[in-house]
Amino acid sequence: MRQQIAAANWKMNLTYQQGEQLLDAILKEAIELKEHQKAVFAVPYPYLIMAAQKLKDKKGYAASAQNCSDQKAGAYTGEVSAEMLKSINIHYCVVGHSERREYFSERNLSLAGKVTLCLENGITPIFCCGETLSIREVGAQEGFVETQLMESLFHFPESEIRKMVIAYEPIWAIGTGKTATVAQAQEMHAHIRKLFAGKYNQATAEHIPILYGGSVKAANAKELFHSPDVDGGLVGGASLNATEFASIIRSLK
Ligand code: PGA
Repeated sequence: MRQQIAAANWKMNLTYQQGEQLLDAILKEAIELKEHQKAVFAVPYPYLIMAAQKLKDKKGYAASAQNCSDQKAGAYTGEVSAEMLKSINIHYCVVGHSERREYFSERNLSLAGKVTLCLENGITPIFCCGETLSIREVGAQEGFVETQLMESLFHFPESEIRKMVIAYEPIWAIGTGKTATVAQAQEMHAHIRKLFAGKYNQATAEHIPILYGGSVKAANAKELFHSPDVDGGLVGGASLNATEFASIIRSLK
């Protein structure tokens, strides 16, 4: 079975102490993950070492960065490189979250650079894609997501593409309480998988986990995650509550 992943995205929330408490509370639930299941916590940079330390002996649990630089190293004040993440044993990094695209002008081409640096450093990129409401309203979402994947990812060879995780996050569903319907999520996930099958092959398409993001909560996680092409979720708001997120982890296939 393909990997199923519950990924928390804390964004710019919680103090260090609150973050520690939240992780402790989730770990106290002692959820044992199956071989194909993962619980990943994308925490702010200053909390990465703490989170990695707490999660290190827990099978299937891992810490993730929320972003990394598209440059290797050098005079880029305020940036954090993929190599730095590797040096503190971080194995996941969210790349191209819609908030980074919107507020920090991240573009498909520079995201391709981030993905390259992640892969060079043994870090699994959780690559985000997804359309705005106005694109969805005119029915152009499939082409829009295809362009995002084409410009950022489709030049990688099959061996590298197989190391990635995709997160489909319709922007109109992020933080709005407005979740895509299970049918809408499944339809786009199947489309994304078809794009990978067309560009690479069916086996590769079947191998890549595609997470859904956008107002996932305990109440809708199970239904979403049980769609055939939805392999878990990237969860913002609901990941800040231990009971909610524990229930979301338990909802994985
Ligand atoms: P949300 O955020 O769960 O609060 O909608 C999801 C995300 O932005 O990753």
